[in-house]
Amino acid sequence: MSYDDHAVLEAILRCAGGDERFLLNTVEEWGAAEITAALVDELLFRCEIPQVGGEAFIGLDVLHGADRISHVLQVTDGKPVTSAEPAGQELGAVLEFTLSDLLRELFGPASGRTAGAFGVSFLPDLRGPRTMEGAALAARATNVVLHATTNETPPLDRLALRYESDKWGGVHWFTGHYDRHLRPLRDQAVRILEIGIGGYDDLLPSGASLKMWKRYFPRGLVFGVDIFDKSACDQPRVKTLRGRQDDPEFMRRVAEEHGPFDVIIDDGSHINAHMRTSFSVMFPHLRNGGFYVIEDTFTSYWPGYGGHPEPGARPDTALEMVKGLIDSLHYEERPDGAATADYIARNLVGLHAYHNLVFLEKGVNKEGGIPHTVPREPFWNDN
Ligand SMILES: C[S@@+](CC[C@H](N)C(=O)[O-])C[C@H]1O[C@@H](n2cnc3c(N)ncnc32)[C@H](O)[C@@H]1O
Repeated sequence: MSYDDHAVLEAILRCAGGDERFLLNTVEEWGAAEITAALVDELLFRCEIPQVGGEAFIGLDVLHGADRISHVLQVTDGKPVTSAEPAGQELGAVLEFTLSDLLRELFGPASGRTAGAFGVSFLPDLRGPRTMEGAALAARATNVVLHATTNETPPLDRLALRYESDKWGGVHWFTGHYDRHLRPLRDQAVRILEIGIGGYDDLLPSGASLKMWKRYFPRGLVFGVDIFDKSACDQPRVKTLRGRQDDPEFMRRVAEEHGPFDVIIDDGSHINAHMRTSFSVMFPHLRNGGFYVIEDTFTSYWPGYGGHPEPGARPDTALEMVKGLIDSLHYEERPDGAATADYIARNLVGLHAYHNLVFLEKGVNKEGGIPHTVPREPFWNDN
């Protein structure tokens, strides 16, 4: 299933938080089988790697009107959960969802599991010996599948480790900062753009962080830009685009076709000039309340990347730009500020710098400066 086959996913994301009539109309428009296929694909992606001590097959029946669409999932210890042939399997359990319930559970706004959201037949047709051990294995496997049908999100550092992103553990310790800022967006239907997909010119698939974001934002669409062809990383809710972050025309096209974005992350070349170009081109394509994130700002001190070990020795590094943005944030406090403020100054409302990681928060920067009636000299006598 490729992303492009699934413009259906955009339709699913739109209707998942809507009323039942809108949801059913969307199912009608795309077809129950097509929508169910996309839901099963998502469910498989969300399953944890099972620690169940064996192998079991779990049935998943999706009901829509008079239709019953049956799938079988193979749950094997230590391996990703996959689809199996529907016929001939000894089932540990059959889970039954209405299509509408499953769609809302997976893609609706987080609300917790509602009572009666699914039905279950446990050990429906176990043909072999009905041992306690077999029943316990079936229960563990059922739990793996059932857990994946919620819109709960595992902690971001666990996701980084699962998908092998370097944003946590070893060189970088970024996920705590990401979670702190992005958690409020987690249940929203967001669009995330990450510059730099990973793997450089290695043709092996990469995209660790794209998968991590897909799992972190259950209702999100994830886009990745890389100088190399990373189309092997495309999957439902993840789309890769090939081009250079230092090519303003290309980046503008990305924004026009797929933005505005809720979050933009620069984890690309880390060349200072590129980081500055991408920021100035892409910041306008962020929505208010969104974040522009710059990773690996240590290159501001690396000459090979256009940096300098001495702070301030080169005015054109990423960190010098960030320092200048503190002044931009305060444009209203300078006499000529309002006359000279640029787009970024007028739309930057917060700036959070961590070790090697910067978050720039977008919004309306117009609180008004401190009134002229407030004396510009201390008016008390502190002698
Ligand atoms: C550090 S890796 C990205 C890792 C990924 N974001 C992750 O967390 O899993 C950097 C990537 O940026 C890409 N890159 C290098 N120069 C670039 C440029 N000018 N424009 C876009 N991507 C570039 C490289 O090909 C490489 O795959």
